[in-house]
Amino acid sequence: MEQNHTQTPKNPFEANTSHVLRGDYEHMRADYTVDQPYDQYTEADQERWRFLYNRQKKLLKRYAAQEYIDGLESLNAGDAIPRVEDANKILGDATGWQLVAVPGLIPDDVFFDHLANCRFPVSWWIRGDDELDYLVEPDYFHDFFGHVPLLSNPVFAEYMRKYGKGGPKAIEHGAQKMLARLYWYIVEFGLIKTPDGLRAFGAGMLSSKDETIYSIESPKPNRIAFDLERVLNTAYMVDDFQKTYFVVDSFESLFEISDCDFTPFYERGAGKEPISPEKILPTDTVINKGQF
Ligand SMILES: [Fe+2]
Repeated sequence: MEQNHTQTPKNPFEANTSHVLRGDYEHMRADYTVDQPYDQYTEADQERWRFLYNRQKKLLKRYAAQEYIDGLESLNAGDAIPRVEDANKILGDATGWQLVAVPGLIPDDVFFDHLANCRFPVSWWIRGDDELDYLVEPDYFHDFFGHVPLLSNPVFAEYMRKYGKGGPKAIEHGAQKMLARLYWYIVEFGLIKTPDGLRAFGAGMLSSKDETIYSIESPKPNRIAFDLERVLNTAYMVDDFQKTYFVVDSFESLFEISDCDFTPFYERGAGKEPISPEKILPTDTVINKGQF
């Protein structure tokens, strides 16, 4: 499980540097970007990448949205740790998006600015053998395997750009936490309805073997139809599987619903306690296990 992207970096040098050096914030540009130090990846890193990639790939046909699968296949990233420049050629042709390598977590305003300009920040380092299934902060496997495939989808890519464009308004209203919940429940842990049943498209679950399966199969979590204001006001779990997943009808509907001024939501939500992650409200449309 990863932490929220919006956390400010703490002491990056606490990171385990037994494989490749990670969390080096000293040698970066003003926009927090670095060149991907490709020659620092060891053969063990390459092996770990292939292991993680192949383990997740087996789950995709059953559990992932087709748009995500199509995007992943277009990236040809299964044989080796992908080079940012190679992915950028493919993404550039598909949607105009580009990846930028960063040392790790970056501040909110920098993150929003990258997204608003069609740049997706990816941590360049790869998790260690002792972190295959639990990560304190996102690595390149999470960022690339989880997030990049849908950046080749024009509708989802535009949704991400608009999300970034909305960042300054959230900061202005002191509502970063509300906007971060939308990212969490949709970009990290979203489910989508399809003719074949629910499918996962969130990067958080699709880069995690166990949560990919859990999000679709388990009877335990709530699955609730996407409601923008509900999501903005719902707290989330960072250290366990989600108690609630929100389900979108389509990427087009997600885009249309979210393409509005969030100011009234921020004003109504200001100072209020968030809804707890496991709660179901009388106004929720709950999607029961038998229905998908
Ligand atoms: Fe993520």
